[in-house]
Amino acid sequence: MATTREIVNPAIAEAHPRLFDVRHIREDFPILKQKMHGKPLVYLDNAATSQKPQVVIDALLRYYLQDCSNIHRGVYLLSERSTQAYEDARANVQKFINAAESREIVFVRGSTEGMNLVAQTYGRQHVGAGDEVLITALEHHSNIVPWQILCEEKGARLRVGPINDRGELILGEFEKLLSDRTKIVAVAHVSNALGTINPVKQIVAMAHARKIPVLIDGAQAVPHLKVDVRALDADFYAISGHKMFGPTGIGVLYGKAHLLESMPPYQGGGDMILNVTFEKTTYNHIPHKFEAGTPNIAATIGLGAAIDYLTGVGMENVASYEHALLAYATEAIGQIPGVRLIGTAREKAGVLSFVMDGIHPHDVGTVLDQEGIAVRTGHHCAQPVMERFGIPATVRASLAFYNTKQEINALAAGLEHVKRMFA
Ligand code: ALA
Repeated sequence: MATTREIVNPAIAEAHPRLFDVRHIREDFPILKQKMHGKPLVYLDNAATSQKPQVVIDALLRYYLQDCSNIHRGVYLLSERSTQAYEDARANVQKFINAAESREIVFVRGSTEGMNLVAQTYGRQHVGAGDEVLITALEHHSNIVPWQILCEEKGARLRVGPINDRGELILGEFEKLLSDRTKIVAVAHVSNALGTINPVKQIVAMAHARKIPVLIDGAQAVPHLKVDVRALDADFYAISGHKMFGPTGIGVLYGKAHLLESMPPYQGGGDMILNVTFEKTTYNHIPHKFEAGTPNIAATIGLGAAIDYLTGVGMENVASYEHALLAYATEAIGQIPGVRLIGTAREKAGVLSFVMDGIHPHDVGTVLDQEGIAVRTGHHCAQPVMERFGIPATVRASLAFYNTKQEINALAAGLEHVKRMFA
């Protein structure tokens, strides 16, 4: 069975990114060849989860067929192979986001767990009664609720930077909320509900000027933009593997080494210890201190393969192709009478959220499904965003680099069909 490494050598691919041809790209994703209700599948729910290229599926299979064994434990060859593959994946992530060291890469279940980890370790250590945690009005529930739990426990206060009618953070208002009481700032890089790209570099600079660390929820950014955690000077950066063409159940928390070292462990168990007695336990070095128990080894290796694949395609290619596709989709969908786009930020990644006059988003989604078109409808785990716009839900079409103009045309035709059905 071929491995990603055999198919796409990242070093060669980086030097000579292949010309971006969406027809070839689609060949790498077997699931896209299917029909739904007799119509070609038009998959536009990439913000919920992305599809997996064959090389990722092969990497998972290879682990289970050839390498299945636990990591960091065996003295035998099989375990050495799986340990090597697992640690290679860590090195892949480090390089992909330009972290300084591989020990700054902690494997977690997903960005949700990454943010909970920071709240329950750094947060519990540094946030006290009367302190504040600052987020934005654009956050996913996973970057709201962990902080609410912390604030409730500590008697601290959650502050929220407001957004304007385009769905953009009002930076001046956000800055006014930074104070001596602010102990951590936690912001989305890209909003899952609206697609807004937050000015995270500026946010980090503002917070650092006051010596406040910043956690960035990068779940919706990493699949679409080239992310460089050192250029951003992010203190923490959380990633979900399944949104970046990797398997479910795996994610990454990047943290600056000195911060990770100073934090208490998140969970106790095997692998996170150096020595255990009933009197005292000493903890392992980072990143293992934060990786208690047997991790999702197969998914981690699969994530490494997804990164190799993305490196081969080239993140610049991904970003520029999606930028053009989003512009096309905004024009095509935005000009349909009765359709109102929600979230029209000037800096946006590939999300089109919208409502239709007099038709509930769930009805829109159900009719589109009959046309083979998969979109998400609802509040997208971002109820405060919906509340800000005075709506309960939207229809959300979210793009990936394997989507095409033809698929956007199919969506537009589907929406005309919805209108006729509910006229
Ligand atoms: N957070 C995911 C979404 O935006 C599930 O759909």
